[in-house]
Amino acid sequence: MPDAIQFTIDGQQLEAKPGETILQAALAAGIYIPYLCYFPNMKPYGACRTCVVDTEANGRKATVASCTATPMPDMTVETKNESVSELRRGIIELLMSEHPHGCLTCHRIELCGPQDVCQRHVDVTDRCTICPKNERCELKDTVRLVELDLRTPLNYNRRDLPIHADDPLYDRDYNLCIVCARCVRVCDEVRGDVALTLVERSGVSLVGTSHGTSLMESGCEFCGACIDVCPTGALVERDYKWEKAKTQVTTVCTNCPVGCEMVAEVNKFDKIIRFRGSVDGPSNRGQACFKGKFGYDYPNHKTRLRRAYARQDGIIRNVELDEAFELAATKLGGFSPEEVAVIAAPRGSNEDHYVAQKFARIALSTNNVDSGMNLYPEIAERLESRWEGTDTGQSIWDIEASGSILVACANPTEAQNVMAIPVKRAARNGAHLVVIDSRETELTRYAAVWLRPKVGTEHLLVMGLVRALVDGAREDDDFIGAHVDGLSELKASLWEFDLRRVAQTCGLAVGDIAAAAAELSSGTSLSVLLGSDQPSPTHRNALVDAVMNLKLACGSVGGEGNGVYALYEGGNGAGAKLVGCDPLKSDTATIERFASAWGTELPASPGLGVAEMFEAMRAGRIKAAVILSDGLALQDQAYGDVDAALANLDCLVVSSLFDTDLTKHADVVFPTAAYTETTATVTNIENRVQLVRQAWVPRHDQLADWQVVCGIAKAMNATGFDYADSSSVYDEIAANVMQLRGTSHETLDKASFMASRSRESDAAGRYRFEVMKPDYNVGSSANGLVLAPGRVLHQPDREITLGTRNYLNVIDRVEAINLHRDDALRYGISDGDSVDVVDSNGGSCLSGRANVNGGVPGMVFATTLFADLGTFIEECESPDPAPLVPGLALRAVEVKRAAD
Ligand code: FES
Repeated sequence: MPDAIQFTIDGQQLEAKPGETILQAALAAGIYIPYLCYFPNMKPYGACRTCVVDTEANGRKATVASCTATPMPDMTVETKNESVSELRRGIIELLMSEHPHGCLTCHRIELCGPQDVCQRHVDVTDRCTICPKNERCELKDTVRLVELDLRTPLNYNRRDLPIHADDPLYDRDYNLCIVCARCVRVCDEVRGDVALTLVERSGVSLVGTSHGTSLMESGCEFCGACIDVCPTGALVERDYKWEKAKTQVTTVCTNCPVGCEMVAEVNKFDKIIRFRGSVDGPSNRGQACFKGKFGYDYPNHKTRLRRAYARQDGIIRNVELDEAFELAATKLGGFSPEEVAVIAAPRGSNEDHYVAQKFARIALSTNNVDSGMNLYPEIAERLESRWEGTDTGQSIWDIEASGSILVACANPTEAQNVMAIPVKRAARNGAHLVVIDSRETELTRYAAVWLRPKVGTEHLLVMGLVRALVDGAREDDDFIGAHVDGLSELKASLWEFDLRRVAQTCGLAVGDIAAAAAELSSGTSLSVLLGSDQPSPTHRNALVDAVMNLKLACGSVGGEGNGVYALYEGGNGAGAKLVGCDPLKSDTATIERFASAWGTELPASPGLGVAEMFEAMRAGRIKAAVILSDGLALQDQAYGDVDAALANLDCLVVSSLFDTDLTKHADVVFPTAAYTETTATVTNIENRVQLVRQAWVPRHDQLADWQVVCGIAKAMNATGFDYADSSSVYDEIAANVMQLRGTSHETLDKASFMASRSRESDAAGRYRFEVMKPDYNVGSSANGLVLAPGRVLHQPDREITLGTRNYLNVIDRVEAINLHRDDALRYGISDGDSVDVVDSNGGSCLSGRANVNGGVPGMVFATTLFADLGTFIEECESPDPAPLVPGLALRAVEVKRAAD
């Protein structure tokens, strides 16, 4: 590794890391040099020249942009001598020749309010005081810092461009743009999208959309990255646009398992008014997604539940918390352990999940406890059992270093959005990306090979890849010889995976499988992102086994770029698992340790998972439930008929932020504290434990879920539920969970903690190939159709038409419903017919025009645009839209000719 470089800035000795620029080294040492086009985590650009400094090295003097220049040994740098300061002022003056700056060069800049009479006769629309970024504008700060002369001429070229306020979620006012291109660069360079670009108008460079004039047409994913980097008021969130923050709190988004560290801006009324990715966030590096960036403000909503209430004979009455605890305890006390269930909130903290499972096991004597979004646990559980003895916890950014990447049955661009960034970046840098998915997703557009198998054949296809790999003698013999057993048994079993039959069953060509195997074995490392978007639980286990065989054959185990990531939904699924909030089907060691610490016996038999619980409610086997509901997405088809399940219960206790379809069945309802109202920990998909920090104390009777559960437990006379605060709950967790020992809220306040995935009972050992048998009777049935709905940012080959709804642009086009000609014949559909795609309950999934294109028999493909999700967040009537964002679930459907 190259040595650090010693140099001097303004007489201070500094050390720059290899590759660091002068600006980066200075900022790291707390020395401020003004900058405008530079932004952390992006490549140096060197456009604005605000960061100029004087340098001298080896007797040569130069004036350079410090954001692009790297220091030389013994270089001396001057950042604020008179000539540099003068030059910088000149540069800023030039910059302002296109930026309204009546206030920036006025001595009353800090005195005037929005309504004051301007003594310089500056147009109202050109004043800083009415700019949405007033007092959080980097240009204004820079002007102050360089002490621009107040005699600077007040003439500037007003561009008179229209303000774009007709797209969802944010406004664009290019009159305020200084063309630093941060937005264009973050969209392209960091996100891998090219929704924004530099355009030229009358010989002047400006920022604009890459396609059309609307973000809806340009392939925007509404992640808000461009807003977060914009130094002026050119790009701003529409909600709370002019609100001023009183405090900023570093917290964690709990909408998905990535656990993005976010900065929450809070106003003087204790309302959260903005949410932006923290550039220091270890899992997100400043990035966020449309759900996190724009779905954050549900804690503000006026319909939040404020008090507990009870429902008796259909009559609702508000009750004090103590009475609510007593009522819940009395009702729950009348059921046997097999008849009760506890479902913990997907957005709940580690503390919430820990106390929930302790309550289930101690107070209710049941193992029927699970995290509410743990709907497809097979992938993670099987993976963990195959990797026993190995720590699979890896940073998601390791993916960027992968030589090859396999994404199977997963749509991380939507469900775990920030996780797709390193995949896209790696693919752009030449990594060999293979996607296995019957749906067209954003990552399929980056794939070197996109395999689109029939649904239910994915595991068979992966074993076909292993066969093709071995046929081509592409396996890593050195690695296998040193670390893996069972090669000869694997090879013997592979004879049964006849590639022609595999390809035929999957609906693919043999050549595609061979090409994908070649791509996957070409890289020096192989990362795998494995999702649960595959309908059969048995096939999910087989898919994990096949993928593990593939990784072992490629010798891609351990180290950077070799991770295997089980993707799931729900914010804190990993935390739930870590603290034992699951039905005890796999890891008993942790819970046994808990039981011995609690001085109690464990309930004997494994409990039900959350999907099984809903099934048992419908069957009348579960009669009472406690549901902690923050972040529950009950529209997922894995829950089945939720209404029927809840209506069948004799007792339902719910904690909730709002009145919902769930609370209408509840006997007792507790108001939940939102993420802004508690301090607690969450664990992300990397097994990284992070601190969610309180921004304000709850204004009414809202309680964190762990407090609700403790209140009920104490009313049931259960012991061990007397905690002073969430920090003492965490201390008990850290004492009992091996992977968290030595951590506390205090340590997590300083830095997040990557928990190991190894269990105490693990023994380091060799790996083993799993011998599998092919089943050629898989794949979508000839009698029905399966809809594989796709969604991408941009379809260059299809025209986009825009409509308007509530003054905002919406995508308005006829979707293409792609059918195989045999299926079209069977359903009496001709090419070009208007058709409706309906599910087994007759519910409409999609409408459009039939494209009888000879696709895959038994499958219906239709790809819509991501922009629809921006519209969804904008228009959603629920105060908490993120859990309701429609996914891309595969489902059994029928296609009907639409009524004229
Ligand atoms: Fe260095 Fe813009 S910040 S040139």
